[in-house]
Amino acid sequence: MIPFLDLQREYQNIQAELEPVVQRVLASGQYILGDEVRVFELRWAKYCGVRYGAMVASGTDGLTLALEASEAIHSGAGDEVITAAHGSPYTALAILRAGARPVFADIDAKTWLASPETIEPAITPRTRAIIPVHLYGLVSDMAGIMRLARDRNLVVIEDACQAHGARFQDRGQWRKAGSLGDAAAFSFYPTKNLGCFGDAGFIATDDEEWMNRARMLAQGGQHERDHTLSAGHNSRGDELQAAILNCKLAHLDEWNDRRRKLAGLYRQRLKLPGICFQQVPEAVEPVYHLFVVRHPQRDALRAYLRERGIEALIHYPEAVHLQPAFLQPGQPALAEAERVAAEVLSLPLHPCLSDTQAEEVADTINEFAAVRV
Ligand SMILES: Cc1ncc(COP(=O)(O)O)c(C=O)c1O
Repeated sequence: MIPFLDLQREYQNIQAELEPVVQRVLASGQYILGDEVRVFELRWAKYCGVRYGAMVASGTDGLTLALEASEAIHSGAGDEVITAAHGSPYTALAILRAGARPVFADIDAKTWLASPETIEPAITPRTRAIIPVHLYGLVSDMAGIMRLARDRNLVVIEDACQAHGARFQDRGQWRKAGSLGDAAAFSFYPTKNLGCFGDAGFIATDDEEWMNRARMLAQGGQHERDHTLSAGHNSRGDELQAAILNCKLAHLDEWNDRRRKLAGLYRQRLKLPGICFQQVPEAVEPVYHLFVVRHPQRDALRAYLRERGIEALIHYPEAVHLQPAFLQPGQPALAEAERVAAEVLSLPLHPCLSDTQAEEVADTINEFAAVRV
């Protein structure tokens, strides 16, 4: 059996480091917004190359709060925020939660991400913000998207929930995901490249006032204790999760290197006719949160793998603009996003996967050519 993920094994590998840290927090009597959260906020902001960071309760909250704190949206006024039609529905959910209307951009056929060319046709006089999603760990064309946004006075919030440590080269300089827009959100959901043992998220920005507003909104909208200035959220940083993240952060670069090595192995060894990969632009160093292939017989291929003890998942089986919560009358077809949803298959990839296991996955996929109808 080759499981898609092996979080228990990852835990066992660093158990000796983690358990004393968790014990220390349990004994401290401080469980919310304490020293561990403060230290993690400083460390993660520094790692990403931004000045300010706030830990919140989830990636969805990070996106919602970053959008609300931008002051670009007037809740309920019909303001529009553009995001990619292929990806996690939580991005669109955050836009709705912030009181705006999600508008969907198609994806590029090579990178499978929304691009300046696919975003531009979605812009209307009501557009206020763009949320590019660095899907599967591949950074969007942030140079092009920022140019598009600056020309039209739009706010850009990166959805970096799948891109911890991924880099983008702009004017000769490599910069990390999370430092490339006006603000960014991360998720530390357990399966992420940097994941905790529950839910947690993050807002990153260089804008001090934006950060102050986001922090206030994350703490109930209270300007000072028990004095509520605006309708905020309960989205406070959790000490246990921060302590775990402080510990795991030391391993992130090594784990991302391992993911890149396994992705290289898959790219080189997979030969099945009709299989294709997400194209990595020269200006991007991805972190392979997921290793996703496309194949016209995706469902048959997945069943074939399952019969041979290999677990493959689908991220994501339905384009976001077609899901009932987001579907709008007159929604235009978004051809590439609709096509990709029927073809994507995520292969096992995590830092504990061995070369031998990845080779077995690739060889089994290659054999599918001989049996398919
Ligand atoms: C691209 C993307 N955006 C948003 C989210 C939402 O993050 P969370 O589950 O921490 O709320 C996720 C993760 O689930 C994600 O992968």
